[in-house]
Amino acid sequence: MAKINANYDKLAAGYLFPEIARRTRAFLDANKGVSVMRLGIGNTTEPLTPSVIAGLHDAVDQMANVATYRGYADGGEGEPEMREALAKRYGKRGVTLDPSEVFVSDGGKPDSANIQSIFGLDNVVAVQDPAYPVYVDSNVIAGRTGLAQKGQYEGLVYMPCTEDNDFFPELPKKKVDLIYICSPNNPTGTVATKAQLETFVAYAREHKAVIIFDAAYAGYISDPDLPKSIYEIDGAKECAIELNSFSKDTGFTGVRLGWSVVPHELVVEGTAPGKVNALWNRRQNTFFNGASNIIQLGALSVFSEAGERECNDMIAYYMENARIIREALESIGLTVFGGVHAPYLWLKTPNGLSSWEFFDKLLSETHVVGTPGAGFGPAGEGYFRLSSFGHRENIKTAVGSIKSNLKL
Ligand SMILES: Cc1ncc(COP(=O)(O)O)c(C=O)c1O
Repeated sequence: MAKINANYDKLAAGYLFPEIARRTRAFLDANKGVSVMRLGIGNTTEPLTPSVIAGLHDAVDQMANVATYRGYADGGEGEPEMREALAKRYGKRGVTLDPSEVFVSDGGKPDSANIQSIFGLDNVVAVQDPAYPVYVDSNVIAGRTGLAQKGQYEGLVYMPCTEDNDFFPELPKKKVDLIYICSPNNPTGTVATKAQLETFVAYAREHKAVIIFDAAYAGYISDPDLPKSIYEIDGAKECAIELNSFSKDTGFTGVRLGWSVVPHELVVEGTAPGKVNALWNRRQNTFFNGASNIIQLGALSVFSEAGERECNDMIAYYMENARIIREALESIGLTVFGGVHAPYLWLKTPNGLSSWEFFDKLLSETHVVGTPGAGFGPAGEGYFRLSSFGHRENIKTAVGSIKSNLKL
């Protein structure tokens, strides 16, 4: 008799965004003719830039010509030009990588869900709390946890990120093996400093733990002293895997392209250098046949001077939205974090409201949809995420409505 993977049944309340969609639908059904403004999901809204469009057109033309046509790449690791271009870009920040350490994928979400599969089920997993839900859910599905109790899965180590620690966690008190860190962080919008990352790299090297570092929003860091890659920290290549994406800085949320870095130097208990890289290579070749070659070849345009400038302009557009949201919220006395080197603002809910209570209040009074902090983990309770992805006029209308209609 066939049996399901019963770990799926442990997943607490379903995914956060379907619940937001359900409540929003219920509100719209009850309030005919009203439209809502969405500052909830981190979905990009601005069109691809001219260089990227030209690159993609060119890549399509390459597939139309017998001399330049390509089928499967040699493996699931990516087109050689893209692996090289990415490695070279790390070089600009003083990080030396070999292209064989870079794996191209169809996005950061699949990588952040799949990476745990190359590690044993007996690893103890630590996550920032709050965190991007995929880290937790993929480990639940794999069977590394028990049931959820009061919003926390048994067996997972939660590292609270609160106002008291500037939203970056203290080192775990008990020994852990896999540590997920996201910077700039989704959902808190805060960025880890070099000194903060150094403490985790030192811990990981001492305990032979592996840091899984999600840098999907690195393009949003404008302060040159803040690290855009964990490999800017000495020793990180021995203990860290990095995940990244073209979604948020190139507008590829729907186009799909990402990458992971697994350095040859990375070692885990009982293995020689190179083993983890080989395992990830094996995993990608067995379960994945590579990201679309049209997208990879088209995305090479991002590395040109014009491509880089245009993408930076796109980031600046979203960051101006973030500034508008932040200033509006502060002007009515709300406390806001993040939104300086990240497209997310992390708002403290007023008057002690729970994050779902604030969701309902914001929706009913201002018709704005945001994301309750509790959906990202227990320490997200009492907070609320607003996203700066949106057309400028919609952002302005939404903050105007918050300023005029939110009853504080
Ligand atoms: C922290 C983080 N990592 C990864 C992703 C997913 O990126 P992708 O679109 O490349 O799958 C997101 C998307 O919101 C994210 O917030």
